[in-house]
Amino acid sequence: MTTQNAGKAEPAPAEGATIENLLREERTFPPPAGFASRALITDPAILEQASTEEGFRAFWDAEGKRLEWMEPYGELYTWDLPYAKWFIGGKLNVSVNCLDRHVDAGHGDRVAYHWEAEPGETRAITYRELLEETCRLANALRSLGVRKGDRVAIYMPMIPELPVAMLACARIGAAHSVVFGGFSSEALAGRIDDAQCVALITADGGYRKGAAVNLKANADEALRRSPSVKHSVVVRRTGQEVEWSEGRDHWYHELIADQPATAAPEPMDSEDLLYLLYTSGTTAKPKGIMHTTGGYLAGVAATHRYIFDIHDEDVYWCMADIGWVTGHSYIVYGPLANGTTGIIYEGAIDYPDKDRWAQIAAKYHATILYTAPTAIRALMKYGADAFARDDLSSLRLLGSVGEPINPEAWAWYWKYIGGERCPVVDTWWQTETGMIMITPLPGITTLKPGSATFPFPGVKADVVDESGTPVPLGGGGYLVLERPWPAMLRGIYGDPERYQETYWSRYPGRYFAGDGCKRDDEGYYWLLGRVDDVMNVSGHRISTTEVESALVSHPAVAEAAVVGRTDPVTGQAIFCYVILRSGNEPSDALSAELREHVAGAIGKLARPKQIMFTPDLPKTRSGKIMRRLLRDIAEQRSLGDVTTLADESVVEAIRGQSGKDED
Ligand code: WT7
Repeated sequence: MTTQNAGKAEPAPAEGATIENLLREERTFPPPAGFASRALITDPAILEQASTEEGFRAFWDAEGKRLEWMEPYGELYTWDLPYAKWFIGGKLNVSVNCLDRHVDAGHGDRVAYHWEAEPGETRAITYRELLEETCRLANALRSLGVRKGDRVAIYMPMIPELPVAMLACARIGAAHSVVFGGFSSEALAGRIDDAQCVALITADGGYRKGAAVNLKANADEALRRSPSVKHSVVVRRTGQEVEWSEGRDHWYHELIADQPATAAPEPMDSEDLLYLLYTSGTTAKPKGIMHTTGGYLAGVAATHRYIFDIHDEDVYWCMADIGWVTGHSYIVYGPLANGTTGIIYEGAIDYPDKDRWAQIAAKYHATILYTAPTAIRALMKYGADAFARDDLSSLRLLGSVGEPINPEAWAWYWKYIGGERCPVVDTWWQTETGMIMITPLPGITTLKPGSATFPFPGVKADVVDESGTPVPLGGGGYLVLERPWPAMLRGIYGDPERYQETYWSRYPGRYFAGDGCKRDDEGYYWLLGRVDDVMNVSGHRISTTEVESALVSHPAVAEAAVVGRTDPVTGQAIFCYVILRSGNEPSDALSAELREHVAGAIGKLARPKQIMFTPDLPKTRSGKIMRRLLRDIAEQRSLGDVTTLADESVVEAIRGQSGKDED
């Protein structure tokens, strides 16, 4: 990896450190004394205690009891492989736990979110206001006929109405399916259709790098293909011109204007569906990951509390978009369940100034920052001088998520953003796990840069080889999880076979995460990235197959093979080999067109970094594309074993092409 430093003296390790040589990383960072003395978890014995079945049950029972139940649960959990159920028989409402509970406890005036718009306007929303607006929208949705058990699609920018929409769904027992605002109309339509959503909540637009994104137009396009949606609720954010479909479209502000500020919460079974969130797998079709009510809420609340060491006076800023699971679990549900004050920022962290993010952190006296390695590397490129004028002394804890963090980025984060006083929690988890699974506990864990350290209390992880045999400490293999956890996925919507096949068939009885992992001789976990055909671009999973499908849907393309190539900022970048149909000639213009075509089909986040036109692809004698070779070529590495290659000249032909990045 060639990440550049900030132009100041950098701590070790030397330039060129990569994920592969993490085991050479030898620096350790014990919890700073001032931090440890007031942390929520100070006794390392918790890890040992929660590792026994009895301790595990005691831990989660105590966390379950922190929630407000309409009817108490009986049994803690059942485990009928591959389906777990948690807090059996309990009834609760997530919005009550996130809102009413705090207002009833006298915290109605506490700020739930400081919202900062990209163009500069701000709003402080208290828990009382958030509750009232949630109730108004809940009533409005009910007035449109949305009922318990329905699915509602949400396609919105980072505005306060987004968590309101999620909470309003939760209040009436409708499952939401949030689709990241950067996805295309096609991607939105596919997700709406898969879940047969009955309503859509969207906005006219949102701001990103100074431009108004045209969300409503995308949504309209999607709805032309998704007849299940009867109503579309539109927040007026930018005021831009929009098309209007009478009867179907409703302005959010008009719809909620006359609604009462109270709404009876639907009593939900602990195992009722709270939401769907689509994520990429190894096929072109995204998977609708199912998360339910009681276990999910207990899981995200507990992990948020202990990993971010949440105290009442904290100002917590998770910089992710709510459209990803990080935002669901650690902007909305975990923090609100804990009554935390958070920050929501609408736009790009470096717009209009490179230090916009630091200005915001300083302005609200943020104490906790949670972001992704790709953002940290982007800030490293600007250098620490870019935010020297911003006072970040309020920070006391930093977090990282989304991909392996390279030790040099970790060390830079620690030194320049955290001022060498803030623990860095590198948190490993997935859309499917719902909650953080492998992570430091900042008051007790001695950190090693680049390691997510140890499983959260009660999480039983292991590293196994191909045959499923545990790999002793010091070795590497595949990460598996061996015991259910409360926030785990409950399946793939409408596709139980794929659920079984994807996660539970490779190692029967164990959850296969799809990530490589090494443990050092002290048992620290070092995550090594995906082992399947899934790329991780800026901390987001994109399937190689999905991009290939998008490419071959273009009339000029005969065949395509897509791989992820190491990228200094985004972690991986999308690299495409394309064979053209006869009659088409390679050109820069066509390359640009194909990149736009993919961005149009999936979303800008999937726009390829590079297209390489090739006359052929390396295949085995049985016709399978040898992706390993394509990855080697993309990485400009020497090639591994080529003995199974049907036609060796193909590789030379491809390597002979010069490839330049197209940005
Ligand atoms: C995949 C899950 C979890 C929220 C954001 C991404 C990678 C995530 C880490 C980390 C190394 C990580 C894994 C995982 N990943 N966090 N701290 N260290 N890798 O959610 O889109 O479901 O992606 O992201 O490869 O499987 P997601």
